Amino acid sequence: MQCSRFLVSGFCGVAGLMGVLLPVLAADRPVRPGSFYMSKNLLALQADDIANPGMLWVSDGESLWRQPVGRAQKSCASCHDAADVTMKGVAARYPAVDAESGELFNLEKRINTCRTRHQGAAALAYETDELLALTAYVAHQSRGERVKVHIDGPAAPFYEAGRKRFYTRVGQLNLSCAQCHEANAGRRLRGDTISDGVGSGWPAYRLEWQTLGSLHRRLRACSLGVRARQFDSGSPEYLSLELYLAKRAEDVPVEAPAVRR
Ligand code: HEC
Ligand code: HEC
Repeated sequence: MQCSRFLVSGFCGVAGLMGVLLPVLAADRPVRPGSFYMSKNLLALQADDIANPGMLWVSDGESLWRQPVGRAQKSCASCHDAADVTMKGVAARYPAVDAESGELFNLEKRINTCRTRHQGAAALAYETDELLALTAYVAHQSRGERVKVHIDGPAAPFYEAGRKRFYTRVGQLNLSCAQCHEANAGRRLRGDTISDGVGSGWPAYRLEWQTLGSLHRRLRACSLGVRARQFDSGSPEYLSLELYLAKRAEDVPVEAPAVRR
């Protein structure tokens, strides 16, 4: 690793430090929600439904939920009725394998499949306000529910791929997800406190972005941070990682839409 070239990013000092500290730091402790590592101010902002900027997307999602779209001119509500009943707990068990296609679906992909399969509408692109709003609205119905995903049967190969990726060193900084989020959780990095890398707060409002963003956008930022290849949002690489993160975070409560630095 050539630290001098990356000093400007601030990652390097910590990355160098990690090389020294890694062997002694084992992660034999419970995985905690992202909010555990947040400042008091951000925590207060997240907890206040009026002040939490992510709630704007949730209320937009509620309007979209009732809006008839596509060739079928059906709304989400026309099939799923009241989201606070029918969508409660759903986000806590995603990603999950779709029975019809055998593919691994996260919430975004499930919502888009309802659009194409059931509404005769086009899929929405990642990071569009519409997809973020619908995802945040659905995820919000599970707030407080504890994450519990299936990793057996058809989900097993996806889980295995995600687990492997989590522990594989990548990028010019040659770091795995685990080296930051397992071995160095609680340490400071570029003004952040490194968390356990849990996805249950997403989509989240990130101050740095000044908008709500998807979990895959966050993963792209982590890949960029170590100068590794960034996969597309919705890619099989990030989907299987998302499943591994969820299994790792079993019993952690959903806190979407979270607020993050
Ligand atoms: C160089 C250290 C580093 C590496 C390597 C890294 N991340 Fe991160 N990651 C961070 C930092 C810093 C943040 C922002 C603070 C936080 O929430 O942990 C973050 C945030 C996250 C979050 C959001 C957590 C939350 O509650 O909002 C997730 C999920 C995540 N990372 C997953 C991953 C995955 C998966 C990988 C491997 C592909 C990875 N990270 C690699 C440093 C890293
Ligand atoms: C014409 C009926 C119909 C419409 C309209 C519809 N869905 Fe669905 N939805 C389904 C069916 C059926 C399933 C079960 C999976 C499948 O067969 O595609 C499902 C599954 C889901 C699930 C996963 C539930 C679970 O328990 O795993 C979510 C989330 C969801 N839909 C969200 C939406 C959203 C958001 C919209 C509007 C953008 C929408 N759906 C529109 C019929 C519909």
